[in-house]
Amino acid sequence: MALDDSTLVRVVVDSKLATADEVAACAEEAKLLQKNGESNALAKTLIEKGYVTPSQINRLSEDSRGDSIYRPAQQIPGFQILGRLGQGAMATVYKAKQLSLDRIVAVKVLPRRMSENEEFVSRFRKEGRAAAKLSHINIVQAIDVGEAGGYHYFVMEYIDGRTVWDDLRKNHAYEEQEAIQVVIQTASALEHAHGRGFVHRDVKPKNIMITNQNVVKLADMGLAREMSDKEAALAEAGRAYGTPYYISPEQIRGEVNIDTRADIYSLGATFYHMVTGKVPFEGNTPSSVMHKHLKEVLVPADHLNTSLSAGVGEMIEVMMAKKPEDRYASAKDLIIDLEAALRGEPPLIARNKYDHDVLHELAVGGETLSMPALYIDDSEKNGAGLGWAVVVLAFVSFVSILINLAQWLGQ
Ligand SMILES: Nc1ncnc2c1ncn2[C@@H]1O[C@H](COP(=O)(O)OP(=O)(O)O)[C@@H](O)[C@H]1O
Ligand SMILES: [Mg+2]
Repeated sequence: MALDDSTLVRVVVDSKLATADEVAACAEEAKLLQKNGESNALAKTLIEKGYVTPSQINRLSEDSRGDSIYRPAQQIPGFQILGRLGQGAMATVYKAKQLSLDRIVAVKVLPRRMSENEEFVSRFRKEGRAAAKLSHINIVQAIDVGEAGGYHYFVMEYIDGRTVWDDLRKNHAYEEQEAIQVVIQTASALEHAHGRGFVHRDVKPKNIMITNQNVVKLADMGLAREMSDKEAALAEAGRAYGTPYYISPEQIRGEVNIDTRADIYSLGATFYHMVTGKVPFEGNTPSSVMHKHLKEVLVPADHLNTSLSAGVGEMIEVMMAKKPEDRYASAKDLIIDLEAALRGEPPLIARNKYDHDVLHELAVGGETLSMPALYIDDSEKNGAGLGWAVVVLAFVSFVSILINLAQWLGQ
């Protein structure tokens, strides 16, 4: 049986038979063939261009089906793997049948390199067990954590639906009321989790799922991260799976005491994307995006999308205030304003906190924001510093030569 195109792309690139660019070029050509009714167009194009042979395609197809992709998950006793649901920056998520209870679940399997870090593993297990105690209609239910064949895994409720990211990719932006509905449900999930000592730390469109019955489910609650958030964001961006588009300034700075207000910031960034169709800060590199989270003034959402109510614009600005103390103090307060906005009333808590000058000053007068410990985008600044040193040195040498010359001429 032939591989689906996205799997084919991945296995060809993973096996280094062709580069991602080469495969992308083939995929473009294959589209034309496909339009003409050709089946297996991508495989045929790859063969025709000489990147793979027909027998390699067959082997890759066998490998990826029975073996390499599913191998980690197939070692988990008590679960029958049914397919792959998705691939994140750090883990693969499978659809599986939990045999004991005869129900469908989702199983997230961590790569081995993470399983080798003992501290991480113990945190992962601890948080996984704790997360399993959370129970809320808007949180993907955590079921179990375990280890099999050297792989750590996390079993959770299977969500038959889509992610907010899928919607954004397809439809660009949400209608205001629809976005508010999704954000309210996500905020309820956060309120529940925050009240029990959990900070999510990775609220983003890909972690907000929507069931086919339109119930929002916040995913990955209580999943420990191996790396600091900033490193994770960089790693994700590097692999084009994710980006630091929704990360809070304090996480970028690598602060140790990340609290619930980091989630409010990330939900604000997600809300921004939902109602404008654009991420709050764009940049060519993860570092430049992160720099903007720290220093750049946000273009208000209602300036980008002029049909948006001013209230929603204000709420997002307050959610995304650079300093946690200028944000909503809790998800509960946020929900009060979101519900007001749903009724077409002004968001009073945001209005109370909203002072454009303060938010503006915060962002522009960045001196109060120390550069983050982990922040690495100093190359330009160092380069510029070095440049100046050279200019000054050259000038000093030039002057001393002139003086010497004058002395010599004067003699
Ligand atoms: N509980 C679940 N039920 C169904 N699909 C899921 C579930 N959890 C995750 N997925 C799918 O798997 C993909 C990868 O998830 P994950 O590894 O958490 O990475 P990310 O959140 O960065 O996308 C998600 O984007 C989603 O499409
Ligand atoms: Mg996720």
